[in-house]
Amino acid sequence: MVRLLVTGGAGFIGANFAAYVSQCHSEVEITILDKLTYAGNRDNIAKLLGSHVRLIVGDICDGPLVDKLVCQTDMVVHFAAESHNDNSLRNPWPFIQTNIVGTYTLIQAASKYHKRFHQVSTDEVYGDLPIPGNGEKFTATSAYQPSSPYSASKASSDMLVRAWIRSFGLQATISNCSNNYGPYQHIEKFIPRQITNILSGRRPKLYGNGNNVRDWIHVSDHSAAIWDILTRGRIGETYLVGADGEMSNRAVLEMILKIMGQPQDAYDIVKDRPGHDLCYAIDATKLRNELGWRPQYTDFQSGLQATINWYLTHQERWQEDKNSVEEAYTRNSQ
Ligand code: NAD
Ligand code: DAU
Repeated sequence: MVRLLVTGGAGFIGANFAAYVSQCHSEVEITILDKLTYAGNRDNIAKLLGSHVRLIVGDICDGPLVDKLVCQTDMVVHFAAESHNDNSLRNPWPFIQTNIVGTYTLIQAASKYHKRFHQVSTDEVYGDLPIPGNGEKFTATSAYQPSSPYSASKASSDMLVRAWIRSFGLQATISNCSNNYGPYQHIEKFIPRQITNILSGRRPKLYGNGNNVRDWIHVSDHSAAIWDILTRGRIGETYLVGADGEMSNRAVLEMILKIMGQPQDAYDIVKDRPGHDLCYAIDATKLRNELGWRPQYTDFQSGLQATINWYLTHQERWQEDKNSVEEAYTRNSQ
């Protein structure tokens, strides 16, 4: 058996990754370390828990706990983070604590016990690209230019990992992925917020002029990429993960409205996000060429349809939180 520690495994991408690994690699024994913040949900992994998958509720900033769990594992995949830009603009502190101090705590232990470590990061560390696009995409050599407290905290954690690789021989890789969509995503995020707004009789909310571009990838394709990098990636390397899914926010929203049988103009324009990044676009050539990774979910419309169906058939997962999430946005006029 291979022992794998997955931090943040009760969140959106971590839970999808744990499901992917337990389905495709039955030789892997998974320990999920998750604090179960507002973004973590035990239900996301309930079906997985058993002899091959266990959940430890705890904080990645808890040094003794992290030391013990890292000592007992073979590999660490690190997802745990505060992950929402809008929250980081309201209160940056949890982002500094979890994303920077938490990552430091994990890499100290991984270095001490010589354990394989994979850092799950974001394309947002590279800042943004202009609109209209000039064909430029982020690569692993793009400069770090984060814009928000969230992306700055992720950039900081990547820098720690790079320094630990060089100074302490940490056996690590880093991946920087674009915007994920799919089941289990928290309803504070763009796509599930609009779907659940429509399902609960609210109008969708578009920031600013709606022209900002995001590069969408299905969460299952991200999971497969992480597994490939973890098992076959070169130590010390950074791999960018993306599926050439660039679309404006307005175009994504209009697609959601169409699939859900709503008029194309049935949404509100609301106050823009301060410092709002204009455009992200990933060049995943290195991942494709070196590891042979290819996205499987290349039809965005059918992926979106399946995601809408998931929120429709799992209303118990989000209904309780919906009012408080929207109240927090309303306080910010978003
Ligand atoms: P999420 O917010 O849905 O989940 C985060 C998980 O981490 C939750 O289960 C939460 O309980 C847990 N957590 C938070 N603080 C913790 C702590 N101190 N100790 C232990 N657990 C803690 O996030 P997500 O969207 O699944 O993102 C996962 C990772 O992927 C993050 O590192 C994020 O930066 C990165 N990422 C996300 C995207 C995206 O589109 N969502 C894209 C690229 C990279
Ligand atoms: O690029 C990867 C990043 O993608 C990850 O690192 C982050 O963890 C993840 O949250 C996501 O960041 P974004 O800020 O791009 O995602 P979000 O879902 O918050 O917003 C997507 C776009 O939609 C963004 O341009 C802001 C806009 N938006 C968002 C919300 C919540 C709206 O227009 N209306 C909304 O209600």
